[in-house]
Amino acid sequence: MSIQSDIKRKTAVDIRAMKGGNPIVSLTAYHAHTARIIDEFVDFMLVGDSLGMVMHGLETTVPVTLDMMILQGHAVMRGSKKALVVVDMPFGSYEASREDAFRSGARVMKETGCGAIKMEGGVRMADTVRFLVERGIPVMGHVGLTPQAINTMGGFRVQGREEAQWAAIEEDAMAIAEAGAFAMVLEGMAEPLAAKITEQVPVPTIGIGASPACDGQILVLEDMLGLSPWVPKFVKRFGSLGGMIQGAVEDYAREVRQRSFPAPEHTYGMKKK
Ligand code: KIV
Repeated sequence: MSIQSDIKRKTAVDIRAMKGGNPIVSLTAYHAHTARIIDEFVDFMLVGDSLGMVMHGLETTVPVTLDMMILQGHAVMRGSKKALVVVDMPFGSYEASREDAFRSGARVMKETGCGAIKMEGGVRMADTVRFLVERGIPVMGHVGLTPQAINTMGGFRVQGREEAQWAAIEEDAMAIAEAGAFAMVLEGMAEPLAAKITEQVPVPTIGIGASPACDGQILVLEDMLGLSPWVPKFVKRFGSLGGMIQGAVEDYAREVRQRSFPAPEHTYGMKKK
């Protein structure tokens, strides 16, 4: 068999093997350029359906389509070499039947070249997770706050604040782990519950707003860079890209209006005769 590349990209199996070891670092990515920048530092990058809000200004992830995910998944694969790329399955592309889920998942993997997909849901999705994994599609689960269910949940709320809610969420996590998910996102979850699930399940838990008790963490890149106009309370901003872009664009607009841009060094090299 011929080898296509010298650089070995991480796989779902590598991420699975990180359970209980060094914390897993991950971020979302939707474009080739940002994928290239973060590739060095993350174990996996997620082409999240949050791209609906971040790239398209949608209010929820519900309208995101499979074609949107495939387009950006392909871009992220082109921009990265080392990290595992996981592509989110958008609402409506996998819930109706396990056969539907396989068709959508296989399309995502063939057309993007990504190494795994992610699906929201616990007990209700376990049979589908097993069906896909048995047929060669690595699946990352996603339990706790599941944004695609916003219309039935009535809003984004931290899960497991009351101990009475824990059992159902623990069952969700265990069901998808037993079905063969290689890792799972725990979103918007109270710390004691996230800690308990992390201890119980044999696969890595990746927290977002779910405390340091998880095996790894994920953030939406634009949120942590300070580019998103609104971020959930738990997000720490590691940069202020929004302000930088605004400053740079103000400088550019001023120079254009003053006719001082482009200066000679920024003009195509045509000499006057
Ligand atoms: O869509 C997304 O970006 C996600 C992460 C928040 C985990 O699912």
